[in-house]
Amino acid sequence: MCGIIGYTGTRQAAGLLIKGLASLEYRGYDSAGVAIAGGDSKDINIYKCVGKVANLREKVENAAPKGTCGIGHTRWATHGGVTDVNAHPHRVGKVTVTHNGIIENFKELIKAYNLADKLVSGTDTEVACAVINNFYNETENIEEALVKAVDEFKGTYSFTVLVEDEPGAIYAVRNVSPVVVAKGEDGCVLASDITALTPFSKEYFVLPEETVLKLTKDEITVKDFNGNEVEPEYCEIDWDVNAASKNGYPFFMEKEIAEQPKAIKDTIEARITDDIVDFSKDGIPEEVFKNFQRLYFIGCGTAMHSGLVGKSLLQQFAGAYSNVEIASEFIYDNPVLDENTLVIAISQSGETIDTLEAVKMAKKMKATTISIINVRESSIAKASDYVIYTNAGPEIAVASTKAYSVQVAVMYLLTVQIAMINGKMTLEEGKAFIKKLRKIPDVVEEAVKNRETIHNISRKIIEAKDLFMLGRGLDYSAILEGSLKLKEISYIHSEAYSSGEIKHGTIALITQDTPVIAVVTQNKLASKELSNAIEVRSRGAKVILFVKDGIKLENEEEWYEVVRLRDVSDEFMIFPVTVALQLLAYYTSLDKGLDVDKPRNLAKVVTVE
Ligand code: F6R
Repeated sequence: MCGIIGYTGTRQAAGLLIKGLASLEYRGYDSAGVAIAGGDSKDINIYKCVGKVANLREKVENAAPKGTCGIGHTRWATHGGVTDVNAHPHRVGKVTVTHNGIIENFKELIKAYNLADKLVSGTDTEVACAVINNFYNETENIEEALVKAVDEFKGTYSFTVLVEDEPGAIYAVRNVSPVVVAKGEDGCVLASDITALTPFSKEYFVLPEETVLKLTKDEITVKDFNGNEVEPEYCEIDWDVNAASKNGYPFFMEKEIAEQPKAIKDTIEARITDDIVDFSKDGIPEEVFKNFQRLYFIGCGTAMHSGLVGKSLLQQFAGAYSNVEIASEFIYDNPVLDENTLVIAISQSGETIDTLEAVKMAKKMKATTISIINVRESSIAKASDYVIYTNAGPEIAVASTKAYSVQVAVMYLLTVQIAMINGKMTLEEGKAFIKKLRKIPDVVEEAVKNRETIHNISRKIIEAKDLFMLGRGLDYSAILEGSLKLKEISYIHSEAYSSGEIKHGTIALITQDTPVIAVVTQNKLASKELSNAIEVRSRGAKVILFVKDGIKLENEEEWYEVVRLRDVSDEFMIFPVTVALQLLAYYTSLDKGLDVDKPRNLAKVVTVE
């Protein structure tokens, strides 16, 4: 959840670290800090403060610290409140650290190492730093100290470490929380994800667990815990630097909404041979889709919502039953897992700890695991038997948009694959389905262009405190996601209800002028969706209809607002609906003057359970 960065080289470190932190800020923005070493003396100078990286930048620019080596951190608070003192880096004795993750047994460590009176912050990180320093005092060798210290830690972590005795060196060690490393022309760099590496190099490697990394200005060394050197496996960054910049858009979210046609196209086309779906391109043999008795989709938040679409499609077109599980529940719910189970994990970041733990558990119980992931070489990708990489490019806005659409696109590909195996689609039917799917990027393009219509609608809900969304079938899946988007970035309390369910309790909350968004795009469900919307309208709700062109409305003027969406077949309507609801959330947040990309309390990558 936090962002970490380290640089050692020939250039001044402070400016580079601040720039790197700004690109990692979406991982957490409660506070930020840097520690600068490698100046004229052995001193390590720490600058840190509450708030976004912009606050830190000002502080650091005023101090203008000299030094060609340093580490930085942008924090999403876990243990210890959001205060200057709890911001990273933390220093104990000769050791200075930043940390991403959680040390669960920090209280036990405080007792075991008698630290109670020595700590100044309320963080687990300072405790870990004290333990590392303890072993450093004992061994006078930081690599040994790190190996001994992490043996004491329970939890997840990536630590970057400076020691006073080695001003130009940075050390790192990790468990679960990622560290990526690169060598540039004028130094070596590490970070918690590749967005911060792109200015330095196109080649990078993911630091393996149970190894210790050492960076100097011109050398990278990785050793296992026995001190043997390990050859890192380099990979190439496969998107260009501009992909992680706003490119003239006011917010990443708007840019990412607009990027959806290309992202969907790139994701679909990468798995099509001779007009039909082909997962052999991902190295997945057909047998994997044949030989399961149970199928679970697992994920969190938006990613889990894409699994709901998968479930509906598989039932309708492939005659296959699946469960969709929230990953954090799945782990503790005693799921039925064995060699006949297929678990499909969905995650943009590939680092969400709940999803990762669920995949590990599934593998342990002999299930086959496929993950649908946007970030290459991420922890979930590595933990799974097979990976389907989505081609959305980097997603920076905390609220997921294009990553969701490409996950949904993969659901259609899976559906055709499994439907054909199950004899529910002939080759010709499969091809016809894929032909329609290949037109979706154009449909989405048109939906994105409809932004001003949706902007006008957002003005009608901007004052709302509470709002309800209604829909059935695939419209229900769409509103679950649309509602999450709205609450997450506009802070309007929004609840998505299956249209048929609202009268079983929740309709009690409908009073005069309650805003309701009713999505009506499924021909076979339209009359029921509309009569449920009329039920809330007749209790005073202001109902805004998002309705498929071609669905006839009687007395259209009785609705508060009607938004027409392009008519595509029912099973593909989720795409234009999704874009409309993304834009609705975006403009509501924008016009409220909120920080669209960095909503309060959230972080892009959730690496705590
Ligand atoms: C909401 C959102 C989150 C993520 C969830 C899982 O806009 O982005 O709900 O979908 O935290 O993240 P990943 O997909 O990285 O596992």
